[in-house]
Amino acid sequence: MSDGRSVSGQLKKFVFRGKSSSKGDSRGEYLEIVIPELLTAGYSFYTWPSAPLLAWYLWTQRRHLRGLRVLELGCGTGLPGILAAKCGARVTLTDSVALPRSLRHLSACCEANGLVPNRDVKILGLAWGLFLSEVHSLRPVDLLLASDCFYEPSQFEEVLSTVAYLLDGTDARFLCSYQERSADWSIEALLKKWGLKGALLDLDSLSESSGVDYRSLVGDRSLHLLEIVAV
Ligand SMILES: C[S@@+](CC[C@H](N)C(=O)[O-])C[C@H]1O[C@@H](n2cnc3c(N)ncnc32)[C@H](O)[C@@H]1O
Repeated sequence: MSDGRSVSGQLKKFVFRGKSSSKGDSRGEYLEIVIPELLTAGYSFYTWPSAPLLAWYLWTQRRHLRGLRVLELGCGTGLPGILAAKCGARVTLTDSVALPRSLRHLSACCEANGLVPNRDVKILGLAWGLFLSEVHSLRPVDLLLASDCFYEPSQFEEVLSTVAYLLDGTDARFLCSYQERSADWSIEALLKKWGLKGALLDLDSLSESSGVDYRSLVGDRSLHLLEIVAV
């Protein structure tokens, strides 16, 4: 996969490659996702470095995505969720209900990839930690996603309370990629409080087993992939 630096105008291109599973097929698999970005408009209008990492992981798991009910939180431009939809998952993309312009931009990101909003993917405004009726209609999910949603410590509990509600009583997993910005930040106590447990995924082993290297995506940033489940 490329690191997404192939930028054409305001379109950022992400390329995912992999070997085909069918014997004798040497064509390989290829998926290109384009994201229209507005670099100065705000947090949700461009793709943060954690998003290609989560998308890369989903690409390594692409054969298991078909039919899964996938929900992405704080998705911004929605790269991981769009990839999951392209791989056959039933995807709901969410971002802040207080940012209608971001939600419109998210629709444009879907359309740029041939996905018709509210036909091929659902798009919904949500506020972490607020349990409005829309949130109840989101259950059940099989896979919950978020990239770079742990960037403001005062919001960690809001994110995790929403995650706990969506995972409660199910086998669903929450996969989140994040950038380590301070050694002092931790979600350990909050995981315990909300009946959750987390484990970091071993990216080196995943690279080896998938044959797709993640290192060019990460560069010298401290990026991680965490899997959280209900206890
Ligand atoms: C750092 S950006 C990450 C965007 C995207 N996931 C990515 O990695 O490119 C954080 C995202 O969380 C959304 N967000 C912030 N506060 C939120 C809240 N209280 N409820 C829901 N979404 C929120 C923002 O609108 C933004 O899209």
